[in-house]
Amino acid sequence: MDFILRPWRREDVEDVLRYANNDKIARNLRNVFPYPYIRTDAEAFIESCIAADEEKQLFRAIEIDGRAAGSIALCLGSDVYCMTAELGYWLAEDYWGKGIMTRAVQQICEEGAERWDDLVRIYAEPFAHNAASRRVLEKAGFTLEGIMRCGACKRGRIFDCCMYALLVVDM
Ligand SMILES: CC(C)(COP(=O)(O)OP(=O)(O)OC[C@H]1O[C@@H](n2cnc3c(N)ncnc32)[C@H](O)[C@@H]1OP(=O)(O)O)[C@@H](O)C(=O)NCCC(=O)NCCS
Repeated sequence: MDFILRPWRREDVEDVLRYANNDKIARNLRNVFPYPYIRTDAEAFIESCIAADEEKQLFRAIEIDGRAAGSIALCLGSDVYCMTAELGYWLAEDYWGKGIMTRAVQQICEEGAERWDDLVRIYAEPFAHNAASRRVLEKAGFTLEGIMRCGACKRGRIFDCCMYALLVVDM
């Protein structure tokens, strides 16, 4: 199935509302991604993506069949982490299991490496029980560097998290 990664647009708000309001997505993400996901959440998210400084952050819509059906982002760290970028993503449930996110991860990592000359490392921190996301990272060439025991608290429960990373020299 084809997709493109492209900058966010204000008119994507209806698609974000339609696809992001899904607890199967929210429960695997940080609390900044709420459930239920309402119009003001979608509007604030899109505005923040449009306002982002592309010297430090790449926020991309995953467009499928003309709709914004997911989100993927790379954010550079600061201070001693200024050569490291964090990766995050979600996809509309309608499109799961078709290999889309694996290819989207590969594409945004390539874009980050091309744009940011100093980038040396890209990492992601899925919850340890998030088998689909872990598989995406493994298929995209990331290495599991460790498990952060009791690394996150979500909805009152404590979970292990994983540290997956890809070095730009290995891409
Ligand atoms: C994680 C997510 C992005 C995956 O997107 P996707 O486009 O379906 O991913 P892909 O199709 O590229 O790959 C998914 C892989 O996980 C596997 N998978 C899915 N569910 C699984 C499960 N419960 N156990 C084991 N493997 C699983 C699939 O079989 C596939 O692997 P394969 O190609 O070897 O068969 C999507 O499920 C999602 O948005 N989840 C909610 C948000 C989220 O978890 N974001 C990441 C936070 S770190």
